[in-house]
Amino acid sequence: MKKKKGLNRRAFLKKASLVAAASTLPLNLVEVVWGKEEGEKFTFACISDAHLTHIKGTKFVRNFDEGLSKAVAEVNFMWPRPDFVVFGGDLAQLGKKEEIDHGLEILSKIDVPIKFVIGEHDYYLDLGEHWQEKVSKLYYSFDHKGVHFVVLNSILTYEDWMKKWPSAEERMNQMARLDNPQGSPFMVGEEQRSWLKKDLARVNPETPIVVLSHSPLYKIFKPWNFWTDDAEAVQEILSPFKKVTVLHGHVHQVLYNQIGNISFLAFMSTAWPWPYPVSYTQKPNMVPKMTVFMNRADPFHERDGTGWSYVDLESGRVIHHYQLWENQPRTVYFDQEVGHPVDSKYQDPDKRIPPQEHY
Ligand SMILES: [Fe+2]
Ligand SMILES: [Fe+2]
Repeated sequence: MKKKKGLNRRAFLKKASLVAAASTLPLNLVEVVWGKEEGEKFTFACISDAHLTHIKGTKFVRNFDEGLSKAVAEVNFMWPRPDFVVFGGDLAQLGKKEEIDHGLEILSKIDVPIKFVIGEHDYYLDLGEHWQEKVSKLYYSFDHKGVHFVVLNSILTYEDWMKKWPSAEERMNQMARLDNPQGSPFMVGEEQRSWLKKDLARVNPETPIVVLSHSPLYKIFKPWNFWTDDAEAVQEILSPFKKVTVLHGHVHQVLYNQIGNISFLAFMSTAWPWPYPVSYTQKPNMVPKMTVFMNRADPFHERDGTGWSYVDLESGRVIHHYQLWENQPRTVYFDQEVGHPVDSKYQDPDKRIPPQEHY
């Protein structure tokens, strides 16, 4: 992985030096060197699903603290520096102020801006009150080097489910479970969908769009809430754009898909990996066929199946570099020829890593 990263970095630096040289040339020549079609290349890092868990007083679950701290340290070693960091949600485990504040303290060591996405574990205790006060808005958009970014709060759910619990703690506990028959599917909701329509109305369809959400904005497996109920309606709003990528947290695994014009790629968790529902439940589900599964996490390595990632955005397309601790690093990029994301090494079935065996 280091090698791959080095190559990309070198290519980036070569490009950067061309631009530096071009800056002394007349403007029309600059456009030839830094063609409009190619667009500007840049890098951002992604950290997600830290699940910091408060025990009592100043005590937190050590392993999850260390996972987030390790990602922060590695991001701080990136050179050139990433333009910004995306945090993909689930900073807390049970939405407590202590957990969110503790996460912010660990993340404060990062010296580039952080764009925050809220996860269900951050939301369902106080419905995002502390998050909005201390961390970020729940949904917003921004532009960066020719790319339009949209952050959504995709973990909302139905009003009647919200009202059925005797306390905020109970509501949080219910939403925190993975395989909960009493759970309720996520959704973006009408208010945000109409905001999204308005936000995108001012954006040229040629502009690359990157949507950051916590839940996948498509439907994988409802019993685990790998699911967004109004995904099709959100996808429809994104349909006029040529280059659209959704980057999401929540699933804690390498996962990628293509639906129409939209590429989907998941972030890793710094806390623990989830199994793939197809391998674990043997029930019908829609794990994307194109995804090369990450190797089975080794339960005897507390870091296996966890990690972080960085994204090179080139010509509006995402090249996603998974930094998997105790496992093979992976790069998943958009392949123009096949029209969907592919793994740079393991997409060909003959080249896949054989599953680990544990004794
Ligand atoms: Fe999570
Ligand atoms: Fe989540």
